[in-house]
This record gives sequence, C-alpha cells and structure tokens, in this order.
Amino acid sequence: MLFAIGSDHGGLELKNAIKKLLEERGISYVDCGTDNGDSVDYPDYGEKVARKVSGGEVESGILVCGTGIGMSIVANKFPHVRAALVTDTFMARMAKEHNNANILVLGGRVLNEQQACDIVATWLDASFEGGRHQWRLDKIAAIEKQLCQQ
Ligand code: RB5
Repeated sequence: MLFAIGSDHGGLELKNAIKKLLEERGISYVDCGTDNGDSVDYPDYGEKVARKVSGGEVESGILVCGTGIGMSIVANKFPHVRAALVTDTFMARMAKEHNNANILVLGGRVLNEQQACDIVATWLDASFEGGRHQWRLDKIAAIEKQLCQQ
C-alpha cells in the first residue's frame, strides 16, 4: 500500500503528525511537500498528490491546507479522484464506506493533531460498502467521462 501526502504551510504541522501515524501503521508514503513553513500556493501541492492518485501511481492520498477547502477544489479536478474534506470521524467513515474517497482532505487550522489522527485512522480502518454506493460512483464516473470528451 503506497500513499501520497502533501500540504501547504497551513497544513504542515498536521501533515507531520499524520506521517507519524502512517509510519506507526507501516504504511509507505511519498511526501510531496511542502517541507517548511514558508508561504506556498496550495494548488501546487494538491496537484502533486492528486496526479499520483489519478494516474494510479499511489493507492490513496492525504492533503492538508489551512481549511482543506482549497486542496479539495484542486484534487477534485483530476479524473478518478474522489477527494473528501472531512472534519470528524463520522464523516471519515462515510467518506470510505459510501464515497470510497481516495483522497482525504483535512484543515490544519480546523483540527488539532488528535482529531486529525483519529480521522485518518477511522478512514484507514473503514471499507467501501459497494452495492448502491458503487452505482452512484459509476454515475459520477460517467459524468466525468462525458465532460472529459468535450
Ligand atoms: C493559506 O493561507 C490558505 O488559504 C490555505 O491553506 C487554504 O486554507 C486554502 O483553502
């Protein structure tokens, strides 16, 4: 299992906490930056992670910016990406069980480290339920396909 993780300056601290959690769980990851607290543009880092998920280079991604909003907007531009901005463990579970989210997005100025790690752990431990939820994802994929042909 290989993940990609990325943040801007607003998400850096939380990203570092999440990296520790992934390491504790033996999950390999590619850190797409940023590496320091200098102000950067979130689309640059959202793109790096979303491109890897979209192209199948990694299984899943985690993105963190100040609110999570900017990263969600960027990531969901990419084909095959289902990025979910999550603020609690209920949403984390639903993001996997119903939406099969392949990128988890968090807000570094919204959540503390404990909340973020609980959310990531819940998302990792949950499983996609398939069935009617798969039909709905198929509908999203059909819209995406149609739009990409235009
Ligand atoms: C950066 O100040 C901030 O705008 C960014 O981290 C994020 O919250 C954007 O959605």
